[in-house]
Amino acid sequence: MGIVLKDILAALPKGEDVEVKQTSIFIENDKIVGIGSEPSGFKADEVIDGTDKFVIPGLINCHTHTYMAFMRNVADDLPFMDWLFGRIDPIEQKMTDDDVYWGACLGIIEMLKTGTTCFNDMQMNPCITTKAVKDSGMRAVIARGLVGSGNDEGGRKRLDDTYKDMEFSKDCDRLSFILGPHAPYTCDEEYMRIVSNEAKEHDMGIHIHLSESVSEIEQIKEKYGCSPIEMAERNGIFDVRCIAAHCVQVDDKDMDIMKKHNVNVVTNPASNMKLGNGFAPIPEMMERGINVCLGTDGAASNNSLNLFKELHLLTLIHKGTHRTPECISATEGFKMATINGAKALGMEDKIGSIEVGKKADLAILDLKKPSLQPINNLIAGLSYSADGTEVETVFVDGKKVVENGKVLNLDEDLVYKKVNEIIKRLTLDI
Ligand code: NI
Repeated sequence: MGIVLKDILAALPKGEDVEVKQTSIFIENDKIVGIGSEPSGFKADEVIDGTDKFVIPGLINCHTHTYMAFMRNVADDLPFMDWLFGRIDPIEQKMTDDDVYWGACLGIIEMLKTGTTCFNDMQMNPCITTKAVKDSGMRAVIARGLVGSGNDEGGRKRLDDTYKDMEFSKDCDRLSFILGPHAPYTCDEEYMRIVSNEAKEHDMGIHIHLSESVSEIEQIKEKYGCSPIEMAERNGIFDVRCIAAHCVQVDDKDMDIMKKHNVNVVTNPASNMKLGNGFAPIPEMMERGINVCLGTDGAASNNSLNLFKELHLLTLIHKGTHRTPECISATEGFKMATINGAKALGMEDKIGSIEVGKKADLAILDLKKPSLQPINNLIAGLSYSADGTEVETVFVDGKKVVENGKVLNLDEDLVYKKVNEIIKRLTLDI
């Protein structure tokens, strides 16, 4: 199957920079096979006219809990621990696999329609979010959220869920897996070591929440006499490729440790602000050369999975808090939403930029929208003026998954009906 995006404005890498250039992009099966000139022997089955269109690499949401989309707007304006243990946890105790499936479908619909083609997920129900990924045509990296103390039965079972999910998904190469120790306040030191040893043994990465709130810092300091970053380090969590969500409450020592071990930081500005956790020192991390990427967190704490909104916040808030407009440029923000995410996931040879040989994971934006007119610096447009409603067509693995703003592989109306029924039932006596 050959597809050409003909004479289209495209966001292309140029060294460390990004340039917007008029070109044609040639897709064969799942890959980009040519940019500019037509590769020999290429046969076009479909030609997409690029007039008034702008193509970007699909965005990468590096920290989310997709299934939580059905909990959108259900727990708001509460302190973090009350939010988690008073409201979210009781709903999660009651939810069924079927509920989780429809929640995951809702999250995927929202991400696809706003140009995200890959997400890094922490979930609780094996073979459910993965089924929604398979059904939707999206790409994802999945971690089973791991909670445990020592070698208790529950902790072992949750680890084994990861391998069960891998077995279930082995026919789908859009899915990959890492281990997901939830956080230092839900996993004790022995369990952390069990998880990090298994990650090393199976050559897997780790996805974890670290240093999210002041109460977490106090709790870990009291229990272990150190910061959550130090606790993670001394239990081997950074011995493998690690993606650490939040890292809001970190000091110089923590950041030096993170740099030393090449920890990838996922910043989630909306969730951090909404839960009153503060602002991660992202410019300071960038100065140290730490790889920073972007995430939404779950829809119960954001309450949106639209990465354009996150990009908007990311590129604005640090300018405000640091009182300089030079803090996090539009290009730096764009890279955090694309190639830096691919690096964090160990997939920079496959996704994150429009280059020959990479997967055709692309979002086409309609330029006939007031937010992107007149056409000046379109990279600035992505951060400062777009809101995701400009996304018209989305490809994952060379296949169309959104066309004219409509998700192709999931029934949107059915998903909306289901999630309304589910949340009504689950919140009845909470
Ligand atoms: Ni999270």
